[in-house]
Amino acid sequence: MSRVVFPESFVWGVATSAFQIEGGAAADGRGESIWDRFAATPGKVSDGSDGRVACDHYHRYADDVALMQRLGVRAYRFSVAWPRVLPEGRGTPNARGLDFYDRLVDALLAAGIAPFVTLYHWDLPQALQEAGGWPERGTAEAFIPYADAVTRRLGDRVARWITHNEPWCIATLGHEEGHHAPGLREPALALRAAHHVLLSHGWAVDVIRRNAPGAQAGIVLNLVPTEPLNPSEAADVDATRWFDGTFNRWYLDPLFRGAYPADAVADRVARGHLGSAELPFVRAGDLAAISCATDFLGVNYYNRNVMRGPTRAGGAPEAVPMAPASQLTDMGWEVWPRGLRDLLLRLRRDYAPPAIFITENGAAYADGPGADGRVRDPRRVAYLRGHLAAVHEALTAGVPVAGYFHWSLLDNFEWAHGYTKRFGLVWVDYPTQRRVLKDSAEWYREVITSRSLPADEPFPRSP
Ligand code: FCB
Repeated sequence: MSRVVFPESFVWGVATSAFQIEGGAAADGRGESIWDRFAATPGKVSDGSDGRVACDHYHRYADDVALMQRLGVRAYRFSVAWPRVLPEGRGTPNARGLDFYDRLVDALLAAGIAPFVTLYHWDLPQALQEAGGWPERGTAEAFIPYADAVTRRLGDRVARWITHNEPWCIATLGHEEGHHAPGLREPALALRAAHHVLLSHGWAVDVIRRNAPGAQAGIVLNLVPTEPLNPSEAADVDATRWFDGTFNRWYLDPLFRGAYPADAVADRVARGHLGSAELPFVRAGDLAAISCATDFLGVNYYNRNVMRGPTRAGGAPEAVPMAPASQLTDMGWEVWPRGLRDLLLRLRRDYAPPAIFITENGAAYADGPGADGRVRDPRRVAYLRGHLAAVHEALTAGVPVAGYFHWSLLDNFEWAHGYTKRFGLVWVDYPTQRRVLKDSAEWYREVITSRSLPADEPFPRSP
């Protein structure tokens, strides 16, 4: 049996985001975010819940840092809530909001855990939404003083900065499909939003360089490796090109090549989402700013897509479900570790980022405490093992993967699904806020301690 050993420098972490765990919605002068507003709108969140308390991490952060120490993680990816720092989106920073992150960073450092800070994980101040939100260039402009305030305050202690989490979700789920805040359904606005998010990334990298000299900066993308159902069927191949273009290359190309992908632009024109290929929201210099040099790419990986062409005249290309329902996670997502390896190989081949962190990867399974209080979650262990093996395969093939962050530390507020999906290595009893390390947490600790997948378990080669 081959032993799967990771390099000493490999970073082992867990990830969360502010709105999903903090709670403390009205504490210390925090302003309203678009997710407060969205969750308060009937019908938007499946269980009618909101983020007012969540995991109460705002008040329990010290205990949660202690939990991470028990887990043995060496890094923690969290996000800063813009409305805590600038309750109205702009203006004078709220010192008490910044103080919270200051305390959190100090607690992490004291515990030997490296902070990876995401500046934006979807909780836009509602006041900026009222001025038009991400479809307006003014929001990208407003991001800069916000990034400045945060990096000024924490830049002496935080060595890894992430500008944005998953621009596709911000743009498409928020502005085209309406499943996420602000709940709009206008494809043309989604493209404008995507551009302004990317633009503010480029501008913010400059701010990070200035306020945190020597720190590393990058962006996090959610990427979906995509393949045709039948590789010899032209319509399936074109459906694959189309999905890859709108989902992956729409972000990767501007960031790494300084241009939107021409074929995907043509697709958007053909669908009437753009008046012409001119992209009216792009100004001179924007693409140079967006394609600025960064130190790493953050990759969030959950699943793949297998595409087929339209099944009726005038129909749209579609993703084909590949796994039986019994094998899906509670999100309805297929478990496909090999997709992570394929994605990493493709990223190196086509975009050659200097380093890659897996900034999110994980699975929702409902397993809770048994009669003995222990949480047995063997499916999450299998998920982790498969995906870590896939990361190792990519490393062996020469992809510069620098670390892995499991999503998530805690069960938390899963956006439009509320508290119904449990992604945590740690189980949370919401009424009491009691935390229980699941079996997967113990398993992950063993991986981290040994820098290897446990030798007594078979090494799962990707199929
Ligand atoms: C990602 C989000 C993260 C979490 C996971 C399950 O898209 O970045 O906040 O919700 O999905």
